[in-house]
Order: sequence, then structure tokens, then C-alpha cells
Amino acid sequence: MSKNRLQVDDDHPDGAPSNIEQIVNRATSRRGILRAGAAAIGLFLAARPLTRAIAAADDDDSGALLGFEAVPASTADAFIVPRGYRAEPLISWGDPILRGAPEFDPSGTQPAAAQAGQFGDNNDGMSLFPLSADRALLAVNNEYTNYLYLFDDHRQSLDADGVRKSQAAHGVSIFEIARRGDGGWRYLPDSTYNRRITAFTRIELSGPAAGHALLRTSADPAGRTVLGTFNNCANGQTPWGTYLSCEENFHGYFAADDPGIELSAAQRRYGLRAGNRAQQWYRHDERFDLASEPNEANRHGWVVEIDPYDPGSTPRKRTALGRFKHENAALTINGDGCVVVYMGDDERGEHLYRFVSNGRYNPDDQAANRDLLDQGTLYVARFDARQGELRGSGVWLELVHGRGGLDAEHGFPDQATVLIHAREAATRVGATTMDRPEWVAVHPHDATVLCSLTNNRNRGKSHNQPVGGPNPRRDNKYGQIVRWRPQRGDHTAQRFDWDLLVIAGNPEVHPGTPEAGSANVNRDNMFNSPDGLGFDAAGRLWIQTDGNYSNEGDFAGMGNNQMLCADPASGEIRRFLTGPIACEITGLTFSPDQRTMFVGVQHPGKSGSPSHFPGGGKSKPRSTIMVVRRNDGGVIGS
Ligand code: FEO
Ligand code: CA
Ligand code: CA
Ligand code: CA
Repeated sequence: MSKNRLQVDDDHPDGAPSNIEQIVNRATSRRGILRAGAAAIGLFLAARPLTRAIAAADDDDSGALLGFEAVPASTADAFIVPRGYRAEPLISWGDPILRGAPEFDPSGTQPAAAQAGQFGDNNDGMSLFPLSADRALLAVNNEYTNYLYLFDDHRQSLDADGVRKSQAAHGVSIFEIARRGDGGWRYLPDSTYNRRITAFTRIELSGPAAGHALLRTSADPAGRTVLGTFNNCANGQTPWGTYLSCEENFHGYFAADDPGIELSAAQRRYGLRAGNRAQQWYRHDERFDLASEPNEANRHGWVVEIDPYDPGSTPRKRTALGRFKHENAALTINGDGCVVVYMGDDERGEHLYRFVSNGRYNPDDQAANRDLLDQGTLYVARFDARQGELRGSGVWLELVHGRGGLDAEHGFPDQATVLIHAREAATRVGATTMDRPEWVAVHPHDATVLCSLTNNRNRGKSHNQPVGGPNPRRDNKYGQIVRWRPQRGDHTAQRFDWDLLVIAGNPEVHPGTPEAGSANVNRDNMFNSPDGLGFDAAGRLWIQTDGNYSNEGDFAGMGNNQMLCADPASGEIRRFLTGPIACEITGLTFSPDQRTMFVGVQHPGKSGSPSHFPGGGKSKPRSTIMVVRRNDGGVIGS
């Protein structure tokens, strides 16, 4: 069906084809696929404001940005980096980071108190905060935990300490790292900076929704103090030295024994269900019982700002940034000093958001920047395109009470309700439903922004998820990366132009069809489900995958989850590393000299798949942060 719907647009302004099938055809009919593909994708996909970047790349012989040898797809239980590189573990789930915490015990019988002093499970987004040339802090999200490995059995029924242990495996870990004499890095288990933030740490709600009736509970009648953060997916970093941790799938921790309890449309929109009982927190922590504390879930799904340099500081949930299933928070300082944060809501058919601060960033007075994320305007994206076109323009639609139908008559009596029910507000103003927006990344040298749209089996199957625009394939198995550039390079502008950097696919299994992907995808670099996304200082775009690792059928030849590197100007993509069995590669940060890369391996051995990473032998698989360096000490990727 998508094949027929994506017809050539006769009256394309440049006379250049913009149709998905032509991209595919060119990819499969030329020799020298990689070079031709890179040129083709530029030709097809570059909207006018991007042509300067493309022309610059043409002057340059063959993507000088990418200086490493590609690694092949792999199904090995190993973390494989290019020739001339080395990789070693920095820290794994369960390693002690607070003084007095015990060493990891693979038996699964350690109590909650042990886990509360150890590195949390399933590391995800992370940022590095320098202390000196050879010392730094790492702030790392611990997204969720695997009961299969956390406990000594499946724990059909958790006791109170089991719930507490699960809660302690979640949240954020902050710890100091130091460069060794040989150039590698180690973490310092006794540093006074080290900190665990868990699902029971005291956190303040701040911004326009703080104190609102929808945020009040019996334990917190003021609606201003919440216990904990959990399902912290990816991240952001501010230039004033704080870490942003993004709460994603919070809904899965709330449940009730009575399957018949009534839930509002807003609760259902966020996935809340009495039957989400797998985590079992509600059995021993009443906050998570939907029947007795219906507002507790409104206190999760936010971006949390944390000061890693002050271990005694209280984290803050910044409600001005909206409540949804946050992936990451890509922050940039606009030319006029406004703080702009781009954020994806990772669910099929949800949206892409932008926050613009009222105040301006002041590089000379860091204390004055502390609450910049409390006041500003939240927007949601609408992407426009003519039928079948893979580029177009777009508009940021404001989510402001009293405008665009966001009023009491439509269920939005005030701005706090707009922010707490941001998804419903976005629908009201006409936002585009996307193929699961994951990480957003802002180019370090120009105003280009990109977002991974990881996959979407629902695309084309319901009236509100039509095929088209930046979501061009029905039953999207492979994902794509959308790119936009704001008008005049101004991140606060209302309008932008967009195109697609890459449409993932399998040109070996599905040659000549939209499932083959765009011309810059080929046998040697194919992947599915782009997720983590980040730029290094030179403008290399790093792409991490969280996809199907069966290596069969539609995914044959893609192997395990992996990390690739793209030259955004030429469109060339090269595979940089491959992860162990049943893992996801997620989380990325660099040393300031760009000579060390920290990469996350999350959930190796997911669902009991046979991984023993990183310990080998018969050891229990453990999520781990890997340190990647070049043997010659050079800049990563160059
Ligand atoms: Fe936690 Fe959308 O990934
Ligand atoms: Ca992710
Ligand atoms: Ca994902
Ligand atoms: Ca994950």
C-alpha cells in the first residue's frame, strides 16, 4: 500500500525526485553504493536551507569526518570496536559507588540496602561533568531493572524489601571517574561526589504546575514534593553545569488490584491501567496504587534537573517542559540567549516538543541560570508535506492556556493542566503523530536538529496515524531519522524546513522497495530502530540502535544492536561498533578532549537470552558502561 501511495511528485520545485521509491531505486542500481548513495540522499533529501551543507561536503573528497574502518554486523556475545580501537568496562550494574556498599553479588539475594549503594541497573543516557583534565563526574540514568537477574528467582510475589530493592535499582547514579596512567579511566568508589538518586529520593516539583490540585496526594497535600524518579531514559546537559534526566515509561509502575477501577481519558492516554502489575510496587508502596492515590502518576513523566557537583542538592522536576514519556532533552542556547530544549515523546503516534525559555542564559553568572527551565513556552511540532514528499516545512504550535482551544471548555482550565496533560493538549492543537520520537540532537556548529523515529507498527493502521511526511512507511519496521532547520537558523522561530537524513531498511531482503531504505543504507551498514543520537564536538553524528537483533527475516544481516556514525553533510553512515547478545546500545558521552568515548550497553541477555557480558564464562549478564579509546590516543571517529 505504501508503495502505491508514494508516487513521484511531478511538480517538485527542483525537478529532483523526492519519492521514496526513487531513492531506493537509485541505491540498488548503482555501483559504488556508498558514495553514490551519499550523493543521492543529499540530492533528494536536502531541503533548500540545507543545500549549503551539501555543497560544502561535495568540495570535500569523501566524508573526511569518518576516519575509521567499519566493523561488520555481529551476533557474537562481545563488544566489538574498529581496528585500532580498544574497549573496556568502566562500571557494571551492582558495582558499589557509595561508601560501605558491598561488592556485586550475582546470587540475586542482596537486600535493598545493598542496591541503594550500588550502581543502578540498565544504564541509559549519561553526561560527563569535568572536574579537571583527568577527573570528572559521570551522571548516568538507570532506566529500569530485570527481575530475572535482580532476584534469585522470578519473584512471583515481591515482599516489601523486594519492592524497595527494585526501586533502588532505578533512578540516577553519579560518581567520580579518574584517568589512569595508561590513559584509561576508572571510577572512584569512595569519592564524596558519589550519589544515588532512586525511586524514593526527595525531589521538588517546580515551574507552572507545582502545587496544582492534580499534583496533590495524601502524603504531599501541597503538591510540591515528590519521592523519586524512575524509568529515566535519556538525558540532557545544561551549560550551567546540571544534568537533565528524562522520565519515560512511568505508567508501568502504577496498578490496582481491582481491574474495574475507573480511569479518566487523560490517565488512559498515558497508558495507566489497573493491570500493569508486573513491577508489583503498588503491593507494598501505596503511592503506586491507582485506586488510592490517583494523582501520584501525575508527578512522574517530567524532566528532572540535578546538580551533580553538589551531592546534597535537591533535584527538581521542571514542569514547564511538559509531562509525557520523555526520551531525552536536547538543550541548546539560541543566538539571543534563550534556552531551547527539544524533546521526543517515545510512543507510537505521539509527538515532538520544543521548550523556549523566557529568560536568557548568562554565561557570567551561573547562579542566575539555575531556574531558567521554570518559565517559558512549550510547543509541539506539526510537519507539513505534499503527498509522497520526503521533505517539507513545519510549524511549532504553542501549548498555551487560552489559545488554540486549550481552555476550560475543552478540559484545560489552566496552564498547569495543559502541561500535566501535554499529550491531549498536543492533539487539540493539531500536532503531527510521529513514529516514536526517541533522542533529539542539535548540531554543534549550525542550527540543524535531528530526531530518531525508531519504528512504528501502528503507522497507517489508524486514522490518526496516516502514512506520509516524515513518517512515510506503513507498519514501519526499521525507523528513520528526521532532520530540520529552523528559519534563519533561529531555534525560537515558528517555522522550520525538514527532510530525512536516513530511512533505515534492508536492501538485501527487500531490494527495490521502500523497505530497502534510503540510498545511504547498504549491505555493509544496515541497521534498524535508531534510538540514541548525539553529536561529538566535530559534528559527527553518532547513532545507537535499540532494535530487532534476531538477524533473521526482515532483519537478516543486521546482527546485534550497534552504534554507527554519520557525516550529516554527505549522508554517509558507517558502523562503528557492535554490542553483545540481546543488548541495546544506549548512552553516550565524551571526555572533553574527545579522545575517550563512554558508551552504554543496556540489558545484555534480555529475557534470558544467552549473554554473559561482560564477565564471560557462565557469569550473569550485567548492563555496563564501556570506555572506548584509540590505541594511538587519537580523537574518536576521526
Ligand atoms: Fe528508553 Fe524510548 O527509550
Ligand atoms: Ca531509547
Ligand atoms: Ca527504543
Ligand atoms: Ca532501553
